[in-house]
Order: sequence, then C-alpha cells, then structure tokens
Amino acid sequence: MENFALQTEGLGRIYKIHGNRKEKAIRKELVALKDVSLEVKTGELFGLLGPNGAGKTTLIKILTTLLAPTSGRGMVAGYDVAQQPQEVRPRINMVSGGESSGYGLLTVRENLWMFSQFYGVPSKEAYRRIDSYLKEIGLTDRAHTKSSDLSTGLRQKMNIVRGFITDPQVLFLDEPTLGLDVGASRDVRRIIREWLAADAKRTLLLTTHYMAEADELCDRVAIINKGQVLACDTPENLKRRLQKDVLFELATSPLNGLPLSALEKLDGVKKATLRESDGRAEIKFMLKEESALAGVINTLTSANVKIQNLTKHEPTLEDVFVDLVGRSMEDEEHVESD
Ligand SMILES: Nc1ncnc2c1ncn2[C@@H]1O[C@H](COP(=O)(O)OP(=O)(O)O)[C@@H](O)[C@H]1O
Ligand SMILES: [Mg+2]
Repeated sequence: MENFALQTEGLGRIYKIHGNRKEKAIRKELVALKDVSLEVKTGELFGLLGPNGAGKTTLIKILTTLLAPTSGRGMVAGYDVAQQPQEVRPRINMVSGGESSGYGLLTVRENLWMFSQFYGVPSKEAYRRIDSYLKEIGLTDRAHTKSSDLSTGLRQKMNIVRGFITDPQVLFLDEPTLGLDVGASRDVRRIIREWLAADAKRTLLLTTHYMAEADELCDRVAIINKGQVLACDTPENLKRRLQKDVLFELATSPLNGLPLSALEKLDGVKKATLRESDGRAEIKFMLKEESALAGVINTLTSANVKIQNLTKHEPTLEDVFVDLVGRSMEDEEHVESD
C-alpha cells in the first residue's frame, strides 16, 4: 500500500444546532462535510480550496483530532484520528490565520519557547530551531518584541514559526495568508515552500479561499463547496479541463436591467457571471467557441450597454470553480443557505 500522510474515507460531519435553553430539542442539523474521500501523499503540498463555509476548517479540525467525525474515518500518518489521537497529536501541528495566539506580554522568542515546551522539545534544541526559523522568516530583530506589539503580518509569521518548531510530520495551516498584505503573503508562501522542501518526510495541508494562492503554491488542490469535494487534481490538470472553452472578460457600463440570463441563453455561451459596482459592470463569459462573442456584443449594444474593455484569458482556478458550481466563489459565499 502506498504511504499516505493523510487519508479520509467517506468522512462526514453534522453539526447539531440546538434551540435555546428551554427547548432543548435539536432545531436543525447542518451538514458541514459529506462523504469526503481524499488521499495526500507524503511530501505533498495539498490545498483545500473553497468559499467561506465550505467545510475546510471542519476538515482540519477532524484531522487534527479537535473534532470527531460523524461518519467515515480519517487517518494521519497511518493512525486513525478518532481511535488513536494520542499517536496523531505528537506528529502534527496546526496554525490558523488571523488567530491572536500567544501571550501578549511575552516576547516573540519567549512565546515560541513556551510552546515548544508543551511539545517536549528539549530546551537547547528549541532555542536553536526558534533562532534559526526567526532568521529565515526575517523576524530576528523582533525576537525580543512583545508579541502584542506585532503587526498582523508579523504575528502571523510568528505563528507559522510556532508550526515549524515542533518539526511535525504533517503541518496544517488554516488560511495562512488571511488578512495579510501582498508582501507578507508572498513571504509566508515562500517560507511554507522552503519548509516543505527541506525534508522529504514532511507533508503540508493548507486551506485557502484565494484561488491564485492555491494555484501558485499547491501540488494538488481539492475544490470543496458545501462540504463536498467537487474535484481534486493538480492545478494544471484542473485548468486543462477548460482548455476547450474560450474565456472572455468584458468591462461595460451598467447593464440597464438586461438580465444575465439573456446573455447566458445565447448560442455558444456556456456560462456568464456578473459583478456590478458603481457605474461599471464586469461580465465573465465561458464560451464554447470564440464565434459566440458576436452574439454577446450584439445583445449588449442593442440594450445600450457600452463596452469599455474586452480581454481574453487563460483558464484560472476561479473559472474551474465557476464551471463546477455554476457561480463564482464570491457569489457562492453570499448565497443564503438554509
Ligand atoms: N461549531 C459549529 N456549530 C455549528 N455549525 C458550524 C460550527 N462550525 C462550523 N459550522 C458550520 O459548518 C459549515 C462549515 O464551516 P467551516 O468548516 O468553518 O467552513 P470554512 O472553513 O470552509 O469556512 C458552515 O456552514 C458553518 O457555519
Ligand atoms: Mg475556515
């Protein structure tokens, strides 16, 4: 059998939402994960990509033994997360983006050292790792800064060092670049890649709702929506599914009440998504062939919509998501679910 770092078989999780204290009865059941079967090989940088509420954090919580699955099973480093959590825990570590972890009164170095002691890393070795990672990540000059005085980006770098210093076999990063600016995000991605590349026995699973990040960083990506895995492959292969389609982006004046469906039902139009902001509309089209563009432009100009810009582009993971779900990831987040 192949050596998988992570494996899930038909994993499911239902949250029971209780009513208020008087009515103890369960109001409703929310299916956060449904029949998730994934395999991640040792050494892989694997990404879970999906909108807010897709179930990414729930999956990470199950794999890190913080939450029990309702059905199916999860294995980490060959151990069952529900049956053998004591075997799983010393082999993993987890960091989530945007968390305000650590004791603000302690310095960066003190915080990291304290955490290393929870994991039983010998003290001298802990300091060696801390100082070496702080250097790599560019935080050496902040080693003696109180962690409460760090900016969001620097605190997140400290948190990621916290993930590294226990030398986990499998590291879980939940939205590692959430809320970071472009520069800090780029640093974090570089650090992640370097950590993984430094030892072939390491495996990394991260979640993100940034398409470009998943594309750039991950060896393989599972696209997840409403608790289900819709596709799982390398970013290249996922995008290759759309190579037959032609993708255009149009910037126009407001649509003057012209419904998107009027464009979608035109011959040769596979899908269209719309984003409208003050005085401007952005329409993305997935066409079966380039010639369908003529009909689109005709329909728009007949409705007095002015075309300001037209670009053709290569498929991105965003397009893959639209193809799978029928809506953009951003729109999917705003759909009220019940
Ligand atoms: N403790 C909880 N109780 C009830 N519902 C929850 C709980 N945690 C998450 N959910 C719901 O489960 C779904 C998946 O959430 P989550 O795993 O946090 O998704 P993601 O990390 O992809 O944003 C969402 O609909 C969320 O509202
Ligand atoms: Mg989450």
